[in-house]
Amino acid sequence: MGKVVSIINWKGGVGKSTLTLHLSAGLRAYQGKKVLMIDLDPQCNLSFLAVGVSGYVEKVYDERIKTLKDLFDSYFNDTIYNREEIIHAELVNAEPGYVYNNLDMVLSHQELVLVDLQLARNRKAGKDHKEDTKNEIEKLSIIHNLLKDIKDEYDYILLDCPPNVNIVTQNAFYASDYFVIPAIPDFLSTTGISLIVDYMEKFNKSFKGMHDYAEIAEAYIETEFAGIIFNMVDEYGGSPKQTHLDTIITVKSQHPGMVFENYLTDGDGISAAASVNLPVYAVNSLPRSQPNATKQTDYLQSIVAEFSTKLR
Ligand SMILES: Nc1ncnc2c1ncn2[C@@H]1O[C@H](COP(=O)(O)OP(=O)(O)OP(=O)(O)O)[C@@H](O)[C@H]1O
Ligand SMILES: [Mg+2]
Repeated sequence: MGKVVSIINWKGGVGKSTLTLHLSAGLRAYQGKKVLMIDLDPQCNLSFLAVGVSGYVEKVYDERIKTLKDLFDSYFNDTIYNREEIIHAELVNAEPGYVYNNLDMVLSHQELVLVDLQLARNRKAGKDHKEDTKNEIEKLSIIHNLLKDIKDEYDYILLDCPPNVNIVTQNAFYASDYFVIPAIPDFLSTTGISLIVDYMEKFNKSFKGMHDYAEIAEAYIETEFAGIIFNMVDEYGGSPKQTHLDTIITVKSQHPGMVFENYLTDGDGISAAASVNLPVYAVNSLPRSQPNATKQTDYLQSIVAEFSTKLR
C-alpha cells in the first residue's frame, strides 16, 4: 500500500517544495520507488520546479492540461473527472540522465486560492447536524478520494503543502498517512514545530470525531508524525556550525527520535538546479555549482535513505 506523506510547515521558505521534489526524485532514482508528487500550493513552486515556468504556462494555459484545481472544480460541479487527466505521467523532464523518469505529478494552479474561498463558503445544507458533518467530511476528502483508488499503484505519494492551513491543506492532512516537517535550524523557524505537531493532533481528533459522529463507514486513519528534516544547514568543519547545532540539539530534546539524523546543507547546487528545472542530482547537466551540487546530492541521498527506512 502506498504511503501518502504531507510535507508541511506553516513557516514559508523552509524548503518544503525543494524537499518534496528531491525526496520524490530521490526515491524514484535511488530506491527504484514509484512516486507521485502533488503540488497543493497556489504559488505553484513545485510545478514550476518540475516543468519550468514557460513549460507550465504552455501546458496549463495553452494546452489546457488539467491541474489540482480541476479536481476541486469537479466537487463544485458534481462532475466525474478522469484521473489520468489530473495525474500526469511523464510530464516532468524525462530526458535521459535527468533522473526524473517515471515520476508522476499533479500540477497546482494559482486559482486554488479562489477554490479555497469557495470551499469555505460552500455549505451544502443537510437535513440535520449529522448530515452537515457528512458534507464537511466530503469537502475534506476531495484529495483522499482521488488517492484512495490509486494508492496501490505507488510506493509514495508526496504532497507539497502551502505555508498555511486552509481547506485545501486540510484535504492534504485528511488524505495523508504521515507528515514530515522541513525546518531551518534557527530560532524563528523552529519555534513553530511544536505548534504544528499539536495542531496535527487536534486535526486527527477532530476528523476522527466527525467520522464517528456522522457514522461514516470508512475508518479515519490518523496522520502520523514522521519527523523533522533540517534544511539550509551551514557547516563548519564537516558538522553544523555551532548555532545551528545548538538549535538541532534543542529540537531533538523537544521531539525525541523525530529529528532526521541527516540534513541538507545550504548551497548553490539547489538554485543552479532550479534554474534549469532539474533536481540537484543531475549534476552533470547543471550550468554551474557542480561541486556543491555533488555534496548536496550526497546529503540528499542519505535523507532519502533515512526517509524510506523511517516510513517503512
Ligand atoms: N538547501 C538549500 N540550499 C540553498 N537554497 C535552498 C535550499 N533549500 C531551499 N532553498 C531555496 O530557498 C527558497 C525556498 O525554498 P522552497 O521554495 O523549497 O521553500 P518552501 O518552504 O516550499 O516555501 P513556501 O513556504 O513559499 O512554499 C528557494 O529559493 C529554494 O531554492
Ligand atoms: Mg513551497
